[in-house]
Amino acid sequence: MIEILRKRRSVRQFLDKEIEKEKIDILKEAVLRSPSSRGINPWEFIFVTDKELLEKLSKAKKHGSAFLKNAKLGVLVIADTRKSDVCIEDCSIAAITLQYVAESLGLGSCWAQIRLREHNDNISAEEYVRNLFVLPDYYLIECIIGIGYPKNKPQGHDYSTLQFEKIHTNGFKND
Ligand SMILES: Cc1cc2nc3c(=O)[nH]c(=O)nc-3n(C[C@H](O)[C@H](O)[C@H](O)COP(=O)(O)O)c2cc1C
Repeated sequence: MIEILRKRRSVRQFLDKEIEKEKIDILKEAVLRSPSSRGINPWEFIFVTDKELLEKLSKAKKHGSAFLKNAKLGVLVIADTRKSDVCIEDCSIAAITLQYVAESLGLGSCWAQIRLREHNDNISAEEYVRNLFVLPDYYLIECIIGIGYPKNKPQGHDYSTLQFEKIHTNGFKND
């Protein structure tokens, strides 16, 4: 696992190469194995491989979602807010689990934030995606994870750049 973390970077440029069904099946298994508060599993996932839909999703925000256009897979991480009061935490854990497992399969990925982001001056990114998939208003749409084979893979963060000052031991010192 630590080797995956050492290599991991966000990837926003993808090869024009389909993701094998076996790998997509593993990604589906991975999200469903994510832990959730009280085991409620309030999340659901929309796996999008349709090019036209991916193109529409890439327009969810003015900035930060364009990379979805060239992804071979977009996974919407959504949750039924009626089921749990900690849907955001549960969705985040599922989303990062998806990213780490994608990395372990030789795929690259990037998170596109949807919750609390704007589509334009009139509607939120969440409303834009909600309308596209006709989702009930009690579903939160946290993010879309774009996945594909990386075109160019940035190096993992060097150990020397890690912010060890953020780690506190046996107390908190605010310098
Ligand atoms: C909660 C969250 C939201 C993010 N939203 C976006 C986004 O909307 N668009 C994007 O291109 N990257 C997004 N990212 C990726 C970050 O920009 C990226 O992880 C960060 O710059 C560090 O780079 P690295 O992942 O290569 O280490 C998001 C990451 C997280 C964890």
